[in-house]
Amino acid sequence: MRVGIIGAGHIAGKICRTLEYVSGIDCLAVGSRTREKAEAFAAEFGIPRAYGSYGELLDDPDMDLVYVATPHSHHFDVTVEAIRKGKPCLVEKAFMANAAQTKTVLDLAKERKVFVAEAMWTRYQPMRNIINRLISYGRIGRIRQISATLSYSIEHKERVMKRELCGGALLDLGLYPLNFVRMVCGNPIKEIQSQCILSDTDVDLTESITMVLEGGIMANIQSSACCAGYNTAVVAGSEGSIVIDNVNNPRQIRIYAIGGILKEEIYAPDCISGYEYEFEACRDALSQGLIEPPQMPHSETLYLMELMDSLRKEWGVRYPMDGQES
Ligand SMILES: NC(=O)c1ccc[n+]([C@@H]2O[C@H](COP(=O)([O-])OP(=O)(O)OC[C@H]3O[C@@H](n4cnc5c(N)ncnc54)[C@H](OP(=O)(O)O)[C@@H]3O)[C@@H](O)[C@H]2O)c1
Repeated sequence: MRVGIIGAGHIAGKICRTLEYVSGIDCLAVGSRTREKAEAFAAEFGIPRAYGSYGELLDDPDMDLVYVATPHSHHFDVTVEAIRKGKPCLVEKAFMANAAQTKTVLDLAKERKVFVAEAMWTRYQPMRNIINRLISYGRIGRIRQISATLSYSIEHKERVMKRELCGGALLDLGLYPLNFVRMVCGNPIKEIQSQCILSDTDVDLTESITMVLEGGIMANIQSSACCAGYNTAVVAGSEGSIVIDNVNNPRQIRIYAIGGILKEEIYAPDCISGYEYEFEACRDALSQGLIEPPQMPHSETLYLMELMDSLRKEWGVRYPMDGQES
């Protein structure tokens, strides 16, 4: 699978370093807003083709997958253009600015029968299945409580702090614990309450979200873009709990019985960086002619985007591309 990268930035570099070690998946080209930057990035990562605009990259006929790695505000236009040109896409999280954009893109992909997926990397990692199996095998009994937190000190990043780039902790970080809750338990939300501290730039800087899910489950989520968090997750059941070391990239799970007795520790299988799984999932889905990956169905991408829209509405965090309805 030959990959074309849109945006020669931070995460794109990590992906290139990862794909160097994945056989059968290669970075073919990079597209940047400037040719100089594209060429420098291509030279650094040994990428054969460099384009001075995103459009030029999308016209390359040899691409099997376009990987969109720009700020959230810039996912929509390029993804729409790529789908119209029949190019399968893997789009970084958060998928789009809002649910309206998400629906437009997903409808277009369906209409044109073109693959598109959200690069929510934890969805594709093996730990996700391990956690779900532990729960379904009844290792902690009936789930009653989920807590997850993700906070990084990233106030210095322009794309995190600017509303016009769809910044804020929620789309950047809070999405991970929200997605974690959703992966562990897909029960509908009965009630939701949240609080948020805004930044001077009017994006959400720190937030706390409490959800009552059907089936008597309480989920608590915290995220912040201005502190270095501990970033763990806990799923507590009637017979014990599962403690996950890192909600953003789980490497270790500890299973405790009643009384806090450690029963088992499970480690994630060796991997390159963990980013390889999402690309392998795209390759598998494409080889089967799918337009969405089973690990992250379009319905889940849209569900999470709608949830984030409603939270932002409550906090008064509006992006320029939000319609009147939000
Ligand atoms: N999965 C993960 O673990 C993970 C980690 C970090 C970020 N992400 C996601 O990856 C995406 C990119 O994040 P990043 O940290 O890589 O961002 P970044 O380095 O700040 O920017 C990525 C690229 O986007 C383009 N860009 C930057 N600022 C722009 C602006 N003001 N207007 C238009 N284009 C701009 C630039 O590409 P050119 O100049 O080359 O055109 C830049 O190199 C986001 O969706 C983010 O949430 C995911």
